[in-house]
Amino acid sequence: MCKKPKYYLNLMRRPYFILFFMICFAVLVSSCYYDSEEYIYGASECDTTDVTYSATIQPIIELNCYICHSSASASFAGGDNVLEGYENIIEQVEPGIAEESNLYGDIAWLPGFNHMPKGQPQLSDCDIAKVKKWIDDGALNN
Ligand code: HEC
Repeated sequence: MCKKPKYYLNLMRRPYFILFFMICFAVLVSSCYYDSEEYIYGASECDTTDVTYSATIQPIIELNCYICHSSASASFAGGDNVLEGYENIIEQVEPGIAEESNLYGDIAWLPGFNHMPKGQPQLSDCDIAKVKKWIDDGALNN
């Protein structure tokens, strides 16, 4: 009987396997490297240079707080505190002094303030830093 040669032991094909594993390894290493780079730099960089009410603060509040603090929801979910619109949010702000503002004290979970968003995890450090910057800069309607 004549045995068929085993396919995967064929010496002529071995370089393809080696190449294949090298590519896999390269993809794996580069993806890990990319992840860790993103983790290291993405987590520590927070750009607060161009913070404005309309482009920065309003979207953060809309995303995290409108569910309880929009004009429609505040009466039954947000203790009647409306945070939709500059004229309403400014009621919770001491312009120039973040640490004395309900808005900042509540999201930074400062002692003596409530913890917002209520019953949910704290906002990211970067979002909190942006709110602080906006208030410390005078909480302008910009
Ligand atoms: C699940 C509902 C809910 C969410 C989400 C929520 N809040 Fe509130 N918030 C409340 C309630 C209820 C009150 C009334 C006071 C209380 O019961 O703690 C309140 C009160 C407030 C007040 C009034 C001052 C005070 O502390 O009493 C501010 C300011 C405030 N929230 C800010 C925020 C901000 C900023 C966010 C988003 C980051 C947020 N809240 C998200 C429910 C919520």
